[in-house]
Amino acid sequence: MRRGVLLAGGLGTRLLPATAVVNKHLLPVHNKPMIYYPLSVLMLAGIREILIISTPRALPLFRDLLGDGGSLGVRIAYKAQPEPRGIAEAMILAEDFLDGAPSMLMLGDNLLYAEGLPRVLRTRSAACEGACLFAYPVRDPERFGVVSLDGAGRVRAFEEKPAAPRSNLAAIGLYLFDPDAPARAAALTPSARGELEITDLARGYLDEGRLDVECFGRGVAWLDMGTPASISEASEFVRTIEDRQGLLICAPEEIAWRNGWIDDAAFAELADRLAASPYGAYLRKLLRADPMDRGS
Ligand code: G1P
Repeated sequence: MRRGVLLAGGLGTRLLPATAVVNKHLLPVHNKPMIYYPLSVLMLAGIREILIISTPRALPLFRDLLGDGGSLGVRIAYKAQPEPRGIAEAMILAEDFLDGAPSMLMLGDNLLYAEGLPRVLRTRSAACEGACLFAYPVRDPERFGVVSLDGAGRVRAFEEKPAAPRSNLAAIGLYLFDPDAPARAAALTPSARGELEITDLARGYLDEGRLDVECFGRGVAWLDMGTPASISEASEFVRTIEDRQGLLICAPEEIAWRNGWIDDAAFAELADRLAASPYGAYLRKLLRADPMDRGS
């Protein structure tokens, strides 16, 4: 079974002083900690074994927030990344946790929201034998890892923040890897900026013709949350949709319950703990709803 890795390290320097004492991934994005968004994506993909990687200083807070995952019907483990040495380092840090399993790696500051997302992720995850990127059209690709495709829709190149992007397709912070990834990451040499680059790790698979890509189009929201402005935008996006629909976006408790990973009693307990907030009231209301009316 594929296991999940959530990278929530770094110093969040672009967000200082908001991140002077609080890890970026614990900052609120509208009504919930940022980490809930990528955690929800892994859970929507059906992943129940998850490793959270963060700084030694922040790890106890993540543990306080999520515990061993049992209340969400998942298993959450924790690993310290003492220095931020690149996204690919996550695979090295995850080696013991993965224990030979394939992985889904997600960056802790990415929000991904779309109708039908669980199906896409589960299908890709089942089909991917090497590695897989998820691409998304953006106006400013030079800020991201850029994927370019050949005429048959296969990956031709994957470059980190190129000055002259060959396409408008950004690689979002979500990657599938086969069980070889930790060993491959360990064999990489750091880039000029001293990091183990995710692009270099993926390029090994590309050279072997084993790098797939899923291209998202319209109807998908992908936001990263690395700056004050992008956190505000993401908060506003979530608030707008949630207020309009009366449905929460990326509430891990709801996902666990809808996935059938926790029963009504366990779900009620989670809701009651949050009873003082609209978030908790929402969870409570789901339980009270007529089973035919609980939605999906
Ligand atoms: C990282 C990756 C980049 C990817 C982006 C997605 O960039 O290096 O390839 O497109 O995340 O959020 P960073 O945000 O660390 O600059």
